[in-house]
Amino acid sequence: MKLYWCLAFGVLFAYYTYCPMPDGLAEPMKLRIVFASRQIIKLVGIGAVLSGYTDRISFSRSVIEFEQGLLSLSCSDEPNITFQDEIFDGVRVRVYQPVEKSDKPIAGMVYVHGGGWVVGSVDSYHYQTNYIAARLGIVLVSVDYRLAPEHPFPVPLQDVVKATIWFLQNAKDYNVDPERIAVVGDSAGGNLAAATASLLTFQEKYKQMNLPKLKFQGLIYPCLQSLDFLTPSYQQNKNLFILNQHLMVEFWSWYLTGHLKYVAAMKVNNHTSPQVKDNERKIMGHDQIPTELKKRDYIPPTDFNFGNIGIFTSIQNHLLNPSFAPLMRSIVTGLPSAYIVTAEFDVLRDDGIFYVKKLEDANVPVTWKHYEHGYHGIFSVFKGPIASEVGRQSMDDFLRFCRENL
Ligand SMILES: *[C@@H]1O[C@H](CO)[C@@H](O)[C@H](O)[C@H]1NC(C)=O
Ligand SMILES: *[C@@H]1O[C@H](CO)[C@@H](O)[C@H](O)[C@H]1NC(C)=O
Repeated sequence: MKLYWCLAFGVLFAYYTYCPMPDGLAEPMKLRIVFASRQIIKLVGIGAVLSGYTDRISFSRSVIEFEQGLLSLSCSDEPNITFQDEIFDGVRVRVYQPVEKSDKPIAGMVYVHGGGWVVGSVDSYHYQTNYIAARLGIVLVSVDYRLAPEHPFPVPLQDVVKATIWFLQNAKDYNVDPERIAVVGDSAGGNLAAATASLLTFQEKYKQMNLPKLKFQGLIYPCLQSLDFLTPSYQQNKNLFILNQHLMVEFWSWYLTGHLKYVAAMKVNNHTSPQVKDNERKIMGHDQIPTELKKRDYIPPTDFNFGNIGIFTSIQNHLLNPSFAPLMRSIVTGLPSAYIVTAEFDVLRDDGIFYVKKLEDANVPVTWKHYEHGYHGIFSVFKGPIASEVGRQSMDDFLRFCRENL
C-alpha cells in the first residue's frame, strides 16, 4: 500500500515538474520543484477543504507557515541578536535587538511582512527579520498586524501605523536614534509600508504630532494600486505560478471587501468606471513602462469605455484612497526617500515602476533596483534549501543600501 502512495506521489511530482517557465527566469529547476510541491499541497488542500476538515484560508496560512518553516531550517538563530514579543500601543510586535549594547544610539527598522494581507506572520518571517537585524546590528520591529479577510482595510494599516508611531516615540528606550528609523515591507507589506510613510507625512493629525521623519521607505516588490489588473506586468505574468493574476486579485479583494464577489470583474478591469480609466491613463499610463520590458506577451489596451458602475460605486472610496493604494496620492512631494525593488517575473513589477516615476517626478530621492531574472519572492530565498543567486543578490543589495543610508 505504501509503495502505491510513493509511486503516485512520484508520478505526480514528475508530472508537475514539467511546468513551462518563461525564458530568462532565474534557476527554473528550483522553481519547478517548488511548483510541483505546491501543486501536490494544493491537491491535499482541495481534499481537506472539500471534506470539511479545514477552510481555504486556514489551510493556506498553515502552508505558508510550513513552507517558511522549511526555508528557515538551515538558518539557525543569530547568536548576536535577541528577540522578544511585545505590545506596541495594542499591536503585537516582535523586537530584535543586538545582544551587545552599543554606547551610542543605533538605527531602527519597522518591518512589515508580506502575504497578500491574508497569510504570513512574524513567525513565518522570523528567519528573514532575524537575519536582517543581525547583519545590520540594528533594532528591528516586526509587526504582527491583523489579517484580512477577518480584518479588511483599514485594520492591517492601522496596526502598522500605530506600531510605527509608538516605536518613533519610544525609540530611546531601545537605544535607537529616532532620526534613524526606516519602514520596510515586501509585497502587501510594501503596500502597508508605503501607506504608513504616506500617512505620517501627509495626514494632519500625524503632522501635528511632530514625529521624527522616517529615514527611508523600503518597498520590496510592493502592490500599490488596484485600478488596473491588466498592466503590462499583470498581462505578462498572468499565469506564472509564483504569484498569478487571479491570486493577486483575490488578495486585493479580501483586503478591500473581505469577500471575493468582484474578483471576476476585477480581473478584466470591469470594476472601474470609464471616467476613472480615462484619468488613470495619466497617472498609470502603460507608456511609462520602458519599451524593453513590454516585449513579451503584452497587448496595449485600446478600449477604455467600459466598466460596471454598480461595482465601482460600491468600492470607489477605497480604490481611490491613497492609504489603501499609495499610487492614488496625487502630490507626493515631501515623502521620505525610497528604496524600491521590482522583479521582471512579477505581476507587481509595474506597480513599483509607476511609483518610482511618480516619486522621481516629485523630486523624492529614489533608489530603484530591478532584477531582470528575478521573480516575486526573491527577497525570501536569500538563504536555505531553495536559495537562488538572484535572491542572495537582492538581500545583499538591500543590506548594502541600509548600511549606507540608515
Ligand atoms: C557576534 O559578535 C561578535 C563580537 O561582536 C563577533 O566577533 C562575531 O563575529 C559575531 N557573530 C556573528 C555571527 O555575527
Ligand atoms: C465585463 O463587462 C462587460 C460589459 O461592459 C460584460 O459584457 C462582461 O460580461 C463583464 N465581464 C465580467 C467578467 O464581469
